[in-house]
Amino acid sequence: MSDSIRILMCAPDHYDVDYVINPWMEGNIHKSSREKAVSQWNGLYQILKDRSIVDLVPPQKGWPDMVFTANAGLVLGKTAVISRFFHKERQGEEPYFKQWFEQQGFTVYELPKDLPFEGAGDALFDREGRWLWAGYGFRSELDSHPYLAKWLDIEVLSLRLIDERFYHLDTCFCPLSGGYLLYYPDAFDAYSNRLIEMKVPQEKRIIVEEPDAVNFACNAVNVNQIIVMNKISEALKGQLQNAGFEVVETPLSEFLKAGGAAKCLTLRVTEPVLEDVHANTMIETRVIQMQGHLLDAGVLSKALDLVVESGGSFKVLNFSLGIERQSTSAAEVRVSAPSADSMDEIMSQLIELGAVPPPQEASDVKIEKVTKAGVAPDDFYVSTIYPTEVRINSQWILVGNQRMDGVIVIGDNNKAYCKLLRDLELGDQVVVGVGGIRTIKQSDSREQRSSSQEFTFMGAGVSSERRVELVVEQIAWELRQIRDQGGKVVVTAGPVVIHTGGGQHLSRLIKDGYVHALLGGNAIAVHDIEQSIMGTSLGVDLQRGIPVRGGHRHHLKIINLIRRYGSIVAAVEQGALTKGVMYECVKNNIPFSLSGSIRDDGPLPDTEMDLIKAQSDYANLIKGADMILMLSSMLHSIGVGNMTPAGVKMVCVDINPAVVTKLSDRGSVESVGIVTDVGLFLSLLVQQLEKLTSPYAATVS
Ligand code: ARG
Repeated sequence: MSDSIRILMCAPDHYDVDYVINPWMEGNIHKSSREKAVSQWNGLYQILKDRSIVDLVPPQKGWPDMVFTANAGLVLGKTAVISRFFHKERQGEEPYFKQWFEQQGFTVYELPKDLPFEGAGDALFDREGRWLWAGYGFRSELDSHPYLAKWLDIEVLSLRLIDERFYHLDTCFCPLSGGYLLYYPDAFDAYSNRLIEMKVPQEKRIIVEEPDAVNFACNAVNVNQIIVMNKISEALKGQLQNAGFEVVETPLSEFLKAGGAAKCLTLRVTEPVLEDVHANTMIETRVIQMQGHLLDAGVLSKALDLVVESGGSFKVLNFSLGIERQSTSAAEVRVSAPSADSMDEIMSQLIELGAVPPPQEASDVKIEKVTKAGVAPDDFYVSTIYPTEVRINSQWILVGNQRMDGVIVIGDNNKAYCKLLRDLELGDQVVVGVGGIRTIKQSDSREQRSSSQEFTFMGAGVSSERRVELVVEQIAWELRQIRDQGGKVVVTAGPVVIHTGGGQHLSRLIKDGYVHALLGGNAIAVHDIEQSIMGTSLGVDLQRGIPVRGGHRHHLKIINLIRRYGSIVAAVEQGALTKGVMYECVKNNIPFSLSGSIRDDGPLPDTEMDLIKAQSDYANLIKGADMILMLSSMLHSIGVGNMTPAGVKMVCVDINPAVVTKLSDRGSVESVGIVTDVGLFLSLLVQQLEKLTSPYAATVS
């Protein structure tokens, strides 16, 4: 028996499963046997009593989970941080534990109200005393960790729990003597797993598989070379024995029903303080400010959600709510993250939502030089579709050529612009990190938001034909405005436009001057030309809607024909092609770009098979667009979406709601998604434009 080890327990006099605050308790209300629980608890008590001194805190009626003394608090030396329970069901235990610690002469620390921390259930010392592993994600808050570091003067390593079955760190993680670690990796996020692997060498990590994990194998009490736990598999027992441990199993089934086992039922109250270990934490904090229709437009909840989902934590320092419908709100939020890396990740997403540092903390952008052409420095900032400004010499400078998935380069005279990775040249100055960057996000007002929804037409059961007509009316109006004001409309179109009979309508739009550039692939052009010359589209007679015998050959005949002429333009000029979408493009001098793909037949001589070239052709044609009509072409439309800055209206039409959602979900107000047959959409659009052109058409016969 080792006199120096003391363990706190609490007899199960009032133990029961009275409520559900973790998945194990579900379906187990009042299902545990008090008698059995008492005898199992005694079993554990005897085992520990033989090997340490067991202190007892008096159980209290009405607080059934008080048996789980691991959650009383956290002790190091003569200091105790008492728990702040997350659930009100357990908060009543706090004063009793506090009293016990005070009676024992501990210096007691209490966390601020509403900052939950569940004691040694979520904080486990490395058994060599080098640092403290602290869990968060379900019960304890990340922001409690810096307090632990400060009060206990120890390094705190934060681990994020992601499987609600393993809601406390001690349910899936057990540091053992000799630097060993028994744990269930799947209970942690990727970042935490990396941290564990960095700190504990592979030969010291004993991985628990799921069947043992759900039997609470990690919820073990380690006293020197002995490990006391609920039943475990022979395989795991063998592994522990090989590492030099003696495994003592003791049944604890009644406590498993409440989500606890051996370790939960104990709190080690003798944890020696090491001289050369001092406070440290990797937790980073930053203050951000946001302004706009924060509640109305849901921006604040989006921001706070993303902080938590990315493994961080927050505290709202200030919030001033706009009172009138048009007034904006302002918020100041302190964000914390488990490491500098994850802070950068969180910040870059917050920047996208319009967050900025408080003015007194604003800094210039950080810049690093490209040392290998086509390769950015590791830490480069990934550009978005939103207008972005970078701060150079305390001046905010607008970034040019805005597009997503690029890098921001600072050129001569402090000009800033987006560039693609592959275009980076040696010596280019690339913006890195997240400091000194802000995006100007128009905060959507209620009115704007309601016009940017998805419309379903012929879509699964949602009958809103009238609404689609309304959107078409709106789009027709805008097309007219753009045309009459000399603006620019770009169309991306897939072959479905032709299959669905939309070819004639698209041709009409081009002829009437509503389209200023056409982007597509090999297929739209081949189908269109096939239809113009042979009346079929991939062998289907579009008039009668039935396949023509041998019609599939038409497709290749057409490709061959155009190849003979050398180009679509040549075919038009020499009279071989006399109508259709491609014809109208040529006739009306509308530039087009056909981007190739691996599945292309032929291809047509006009199809650009060099994708890098095709991408830059697309990018050039998009420049200056006011509106982009995306007609049933997922691939080309996504490509276009990535190149297009926010502010350009995008109208995406597809029969597949998934495509529409993907494309209209750019978080910008200007995109409209319409789930419908594209042929029908084009026909409605043309009708509507006709109405606009001759307002009396309906009445004058
Ligand atoms: N029913 C208790 C709760 O959900 C069980 C606590 C188990 N304790 C532990 N350290 N894992 O809070």
